[in-house]
Amino acid sequence: MDIKISLKNTDITRTEIDEKKQPANSALDSLWSGKLDMTGWVQAPLKQDKEELDYILNVADIVKSEAELMVVIGIGGSYMSAKAAIEALPKAEDGIDVRFAGINFCSPYHRELMNEMSRKETVLCVVSKSGNTMEIRAAFDIFRALMEKKYGSREAAAGRIITITDKHSGALREETDREGYVSFEIPGNIGGRYSAMTPAGLFPMAVAGIDIRALIEGEKAAASSPEWDRNATDYAIARMLMMEKGKQVETIEFYDPRLTFLGEWMKQLYGESEGKEGKGLFPVTLNFSTDLHSMGQFLQQGSQVFFETVIVVDEYEEEITIPSGPLAGKTLEDLNRAAFQGVAEAHRQAGIQVIELRIPKLDAYHYGQLLYFLQTTCAVTGMLMGVDPFDQPGVEDYKREMRKALGQ
Ligand code: PA5
Repeated sequence: MDIKISLKNTDITRTEIDEKKQPANSALDSLWSGKLDMTGWVQAPLKQDKEELDYILNVADIVKSEAELMVVIGIGGSYMSAKAAIEALPKAEDGIDVRFAGINFCSPYHRELMNEMSRKETVLCVVSKSGNTMEIRAAFDIFRALMEKKYGSREAAAGRIITITDKHSGALREETDREGYVSFEIPGNIGGRYSAMTPAGLFPMAVAGIDIRALIEGEKAAASSPEWDRNATDYAIARMLMMEKGKQVETIEFYDPRLTFLGEWMKQLYGESEGKEGKGLFPVTLNFSTDLHSMGQFLQQGSQVFFETVIVVDEYEEEITIPSGPLAGKTLEDLNRAAFQGVAEAHRQAGIQVIELRIPKLDAYHYGQLLYFLQTTCAVTGMLMGVDPFDQPGVEDYKREMRKALGQ
């Protein structure tokens, strides 16, 4: 397990952590027991079905050879893990452009994608566990009509539509069976925001050219690591302690803009899993050094409602050297490291609590470890808080009210 946590810039003591080890370990045990609903993702990396993985890779190869663009229609957990990985990780040259639709109700956003689709050979990939999400339904109907027009018939369009949905239930499963779309399954016991390791995450990543075998190997390494328990539960317990000490906001910080959307994914994972019954840490993400020139002021001297979790990448694949001027000879990464040290010291002097998470390298293998680490942490913190980290009753409330507003 290569993801490391440091609490040296917090006032959390080893004794405080150890006092919560027992409930954290029983949370971990129930995650691993296989008896808890929606925890299929816990053992998934160790049980990866070889046939399914080959099928994902084969279909991805066909899509890459026949299309220039794949439009993924999905929202929330049905697209965020794929987009985050595509923005963060290196991609093979044969990977094609993967774009996302159905993530808002904005016509100009979708019109731009429609214009692009009319110029490029396109495949549509519709991802919805429930099969009845409004954003997805609307975008699918718009984009399918365009595909029928572009490729000449309903049948020709159907040959370029792939669905990823629940194995047995939901409107999208019925439609898939009726229209004969190529399809992958999201297991019934894995919810949207924990679905990165299912076809919902893996297939779009593979089409974009990400090495999903390495990603799965990373997840597997994390899931079977003896150090696992200590690192993931230490972070979960530290978050819980921060809450108990009165912190209400977790600012998740990056020094690498490729991780911006990982931050969005984390916000969804933490916010939707933990924000219940009046509890939870409000997750915020910041990108440094950009946000040091804006929110940096608030962090240093504003209301201390927050603690920080900084995610640091240790090794860069490239370091650009500054050729002239007062910084000649230094690399951008030298400056990034100095910014990190400067911020750490200034925040230490101001008494700000900073948790540090380190990932050795931004590659598929280590990223797989990080995903698994974060999912486990989130589930354990939620269980320590006494909420169900796998439901989202509040989200369902808005969906219901929106249907009413539409008279449906
Ligand atoms: O994590 C979740 O369960 C949600 O964010 C869902 O992924 C999101 O609401 C989309 O739902 P569905 O995949 O059923 O269309």
